[in-house]
Amino acid sequence: MTLSEKPKDLLISPIKNGTVIDHITAGEAINVLKILGITGTTDECLSIATNVESRLTHKKDVVKVENRELKKEEVDRIALIAPNATINIIRDYKVTEKKGVHIPKVLIGIIRCTNPGCITNTDEPIESKFEVIGTGLHCLYCDNFISGDIAGHII
Ligand code: CTP
Ligand code: ZN
Repeated sequence: MTLSEKPKDLLISPIKNGTVIDHITAGEAINVLKILGITGTTDECLSIATNVESRLTHKKDVVKVENRELKKEEVDRIALIAPNATINIIRDYKVTEKKGVHIPKVLIGIIRCTNPGCITNTDEPIESKFEVIGTGLHCLYCDNFISGDIAGHII
């Protein structure tokens, strides 16, 4: 087999148990991890592939989280930046569940309000809370509206 015939699937190995977030908008894998609260200091076993070829969207990112089954409420938060993502739950190497992501009605504690005077930006222990309207976010504390680069405002 020549290098050009290398199966794409071998870029990152299949996992035994856990969650595969597939068809992530190319370039958004790092933001997906941020939204899920997965950082270099948490102890998940992770594989990340960026800009891999995909039939569906041309290029995509893929994130595999071993030994953790992400819950629907957790993964739905990524829908704003990766609306085509599919969530695959893997058990003993098999895909046992596959589902899409759905934009939640309310986002709590994920995005920082861009209004410096917003109560969620003070020392008060108040988490940000946004109502999702289309692709924009309406702050339920100060009425500020954030549109455009949502990923740039992830806490
Ligand atoms: N996968 C994995 N480990 C496994 C099984 C699957 O990492 N043990 C990954 C595959 O590489 C793929 C995703 O989980 O990225 C979904 O697997 P599968 O449903 O078999 O692939 P497709 O049919 O290509 O999925 P889709 O139709 O959603 O594109
Ligand atoms: Zn606000």
